[in-house]
Amino acid sequence: MLLAYESPFVVWLAHIPMVILTKGEHIQMVSGKCVDRDMMGIFRESVGDGITVARAEKWRKTRRLMNPAFSANMLRQYAVVFSQQARMLAKKLAEQADTGRQFDLWPYMANANVDIITENITGCKLHTQDVSENEFSQALIKTLKLESLRLVLPWLLSPTLFYLYRLFTGNEDVFRKLRKLPRQVRSDGGGCGGGAAESNTLLDILLEARETNAQLDEKQIHDEMLNVIVTGSESTAVTGSFVLLLLAMHPDIQEKVHQEVTAVFATDTDEYEHRDSSMASVEKLGQLKLVDQCVKETLRIFTLFPLTIRKTSDEIRLDDELVIPANCQVAMALHGVHLDPLLYPNPTVWNPRNFETEAVERRPKYSYLAFGSGPRSCIGTKYAILSLKAQIARVVLDYRLETSVRYTDLRPVMDAIVRNKFGYPVRLRSRRKSLNER
Ligand code: HEM
Repeated sequence: MLLAYESPFVVWLAHIPMVILTKGEHIQMVSGKCVDRDMMGIFRESVGDGITVARAEKWRKTRRLMNPAFSANMLRQYAVVFSQQARMLAKKLAEQADTGRQFDLWPYMANANVDIITENITGCKLHTQDVSENEFSQALIKTLKLESLRLVLPWLLSPTLFYLYRLFTGNEDVFRKLRKLPRQVRSDGGGCGGGAAESNTLLDILLEARETNAQLDEKQIHDEMLNVIVTGSESTAVTGSFVLLLLAMHPDIQEKVHQEVTAVFATDTDEYEHRDSSMASVEKLGQLKLVDQCVKETLRIFTLFPLTIRKTSDEIRLDDELVIPANCQVAMALHGVHLDPLLYPNPTVWNPRNFETEAVERRPKYSYLAFGSGPRSCIGTKYAILSLKAQIARVVLDYRLETSVRYTDLRPVMDAIVRNKFGYPVRLRSRRKSLNER
């Protein structure tokens, strides 16, 4: 629908005009100059006033502070956790293997990704994968749905009416459950130790900065942690679920992925079995080209954040005729770019070959925006891709995935991010005889 209008065009949200951009070059221009995200403030209710929703001035300081936690060195450490938790994920999935039953991948992926992000950014092991119902993931989905309602029911933008709505729909409790997690991590001394605990985690960085930064009080640290836990777990859990479901629908591509994964790790069978850290080293994960293409193509079609919003501080000239005024809300339609047939022939068909090197080189740089663009693009881009590769590699190495769901059955729906309406149903068949020996 977005592509029916020429970029830019304006829609009205009640009394607020919003400029919509669907052309990659326009998006690149605006995202390069604009870092304010004032409309995202509606999500403060659920995720607090942290990096993802912060206004420009506060955001600059926080981003500078957090960048080192996503450096190449830190990614090397995180890879150990990716590998260990991916192994745990595969082990958990064994309870569903060879039963002939179709089941939803979502709870397994959600739990694994909460464990991965909390261990990496706090050094604490939550062991969420060991419990069947994850209170945090359930609360997260409910709160994001509630917050997104405010985009379509503007009267809920009033904090009082929103509070009353939550109260009368029996949903006030979910916000409390969500906010509990960072506190639980920090007070749960028994869960810490091992993994990345002795390293300089994001939590360590924030606690250290608190000594010299009066604004970084206990609440602010809590909000920053919650922001990263929320963005860093949901996004990878949903993407991983989509990729595995799509591989189940495309057995030919799944077999090629399996061949790639076995080829990369075949020489290390012993190490792979017993020494997880070597399995998912950054170098080895870098060799998984087809897995990389599958992840990127999945995010092209099922762009988790189809729109990202900025507010202009100065006027921005797009060309000789088009000028966006200062103080204007601008929505950048990332998904619109991904569906442009001039960039991607047959844009709605899932085809990982769209991300083969030659195909990527033929397209302009701004044609792929799943992680946004400009200084406020996703801080966890490399982290996310590596984590997903480790999880997908491990699952495909251990299982053959099947599904009765067809591509045309998929129903992407959006709350704060895009998910499949009816989950990610698959059947698993063990590829290796002695799974118990893992
Ligand atoms: C498949 C996974 C992911 C996707 C598709 C994704 C996508 C995005 C997008 C589109 C944005 C907004 C960019 C913009 O406005 O230009 C964003 C922001 C952000 N993402 Fe991600 N993300 C993913 C995973 C992660 C992970 C794993 C983390 C943390 C470990 C993370 C942390 C953040 C943060 C903190 C921001 C706010 C950045 C800022 O405002 O400076 N994301 N992400």
